[in-house]
Amino acid sequence: MRHCMSPLDFSVDEIDELMGLAADIEENPAKYAHACDGKRLATCFYEPSTRTRLSFESAMLRLGGQTLGFASADSSSASKGESVADTVRVISGYADICAMRHPKEGAPLVASTKSEIPVINAGDGGHNHPTQTLTDLYTIHSLIGRLDNFTIGLCGDLKFGRTVHSLISALVRYTGVHFILISPEELKIPSYIREDVLRRSGATFEEVESLEDAMPQLDVLYMTRVQKERFFNEEDYVRLKDRYILTKEKMKPAKEKMIVLHPLPRVNEISVDVDDDPRAQYFTQAKKAVFVRMALILTLLGIQVDPAIPQPSNS
Ligand code: NCD
Repeated sequence: MRHCMSPLDFSVDEIDELMGLAADIEENPAKYAHACDGKRLATCFYEPSTRTRLSFESAMLRLGGQTLGFASADSSSASKGESVADTVRVISGYADICAMRHPKEGAPLVASTKSEIPVINAGDGGHNHPTQTLTDLYTIHSLIGRLDNFTIGLCGDLKFGRTVHSLISALVRYTGVHFILISPEELKIPSYIREDVLRRSGATFEEVESLEDAMPQLDVLYMTRVQKERFFNEEDYVRLKDRYILTKEKMKPAKEKMIVLHPLPRVNEISVDVDDDPRAQYFTQAKKAVFVRMALILTLLGIQVDPAIPQPSNS
């Protein structure tokens, strides 16, 4: 059985296939409207979420399936001390596939070892967030037309930001991606990503503090929120939270075709006056997430929609 724990669980060719499927779903949603009839998705979220949980649910509903789950640890038996392994074992009897978010790194992986249904890591602590990465790849590909030969600036909390860690791991497999890692000293990328992912892959990268200096070089600017919940003390968070604020003014030296992405939620790091700039694509990115998650659910459940069979529309 196949799970999704990291973006590296898929080869580059498989990711291409997933992107192709997501694009077909986006163009022809009616064709997929009954692909998961009778199937159930469980969403087990031990940490807050809006987009990830609801886009997973929306994905399953749009495929004709149903959803069940919990949105916080306190509303599940985790509050009584149940382990994720036991929970998922039980949920295997209630659902066909499970998306799990957990504050502890590796918890969905542990769950997957005891599960009888595919488990999707919907974010584990500061570690990985593979389905956000698939969304990011799909969005970049749709908007700039390629996944190679571009410069990406990743800005903000590169230390705790799991979306950044997963995205870098996925992008080093494409040729000619240049990384500009923009963060304060305290929030630099962890050494396991710098050494074992970036350096080992031979990718070109630089670590800088100034967003302004990097701006003119970027094809993609990936902004991130300072991850308040992963700080050990409030003072450090308060000191660092507003270090980067993207404004209309700061967008001026950027390329005309640059795109700004953000996994969301945004706090202060992108001023709302940037939202009207055609280069601001974070809401498009959130919208596209649902097609990617539909493609992933179909792939992990091994469901193929035969393009030759016309599907009833609007039902
Ligand atoms: C991200 C996450 O949960 O890591 N959100 C999301 O899933 N889109 C980013 C964040 O919380 O900052």
